[in-house]
Amino acid sequence: TGEALVARIDELVRDVPDYPTAGVVFKDITPLLADGAAFQAVVKEMAARVPGPVDLVAGMEARGFILAAPVALELGAGFLPVRKAGKLPGPTARRDYELEYGAATVELHPFTVPKGARVLVVDDVLATGGTAAATVELLEECGAEVVGLSFLMDLTFLPGRSRLAGRPVDALLEVG
Ligand code: PRP
Repeated sequence: TGEALVARIDELVRDVPDYPTAGVVFKDITPLLADGAAFQAVVKEMAARVPGPVDLVAGMEARGFILAAPVALELGAGFLPVRKAGKLPGPTARRDYELEYGAATVELHPFTVPKGARVLVVDDVLATGGTAAATVELLEECGAEVVGLSFLMDLTFLPGRSRLAGRPVDALLEVG
């Protein structure tokens, strides 16, 4: 089933060349989300591969939400939205990070993170790792223990994994 699922994900994720900018191949997950059986299989597989007990699943706005919330339900864990700047009413904890061109910010509500909470981070794509690394730092600053990171896809030609060195990183599909 593992290999069949990986092949199915590969089939359903659509490559969009030169989006959002020239030279970038965008990974469009909407065909996968629209396939009920594949969507369910992905969520169940992500939940099944979690290394240990989890209190909260953190998902990054916006595509991370779509996977992280059902993984949280599957695990009986809470859901923690990690949002882009200015979307959450205060108080928030925030972390700025560099993008290839420009900067971005992730924010969360620290009062929803109990000290020592075991948190799984879920997102659709691991690319440069900037978003995931900032999210991990933010969670740890809030007193959480990040038990792992789970991605639908790892773009292995980018340095995401090495930026998360020392952390348990899992991806259902590696894209080379
Ligand atoms: C994408 C993706 C990850 C992030 C990965 O989100 O969903 O969150 O980029 O890139 P990185 O590893 O280089 O940080 P995007 O910012 O496009 O936002 P969206 O989910 O709202 O489309």
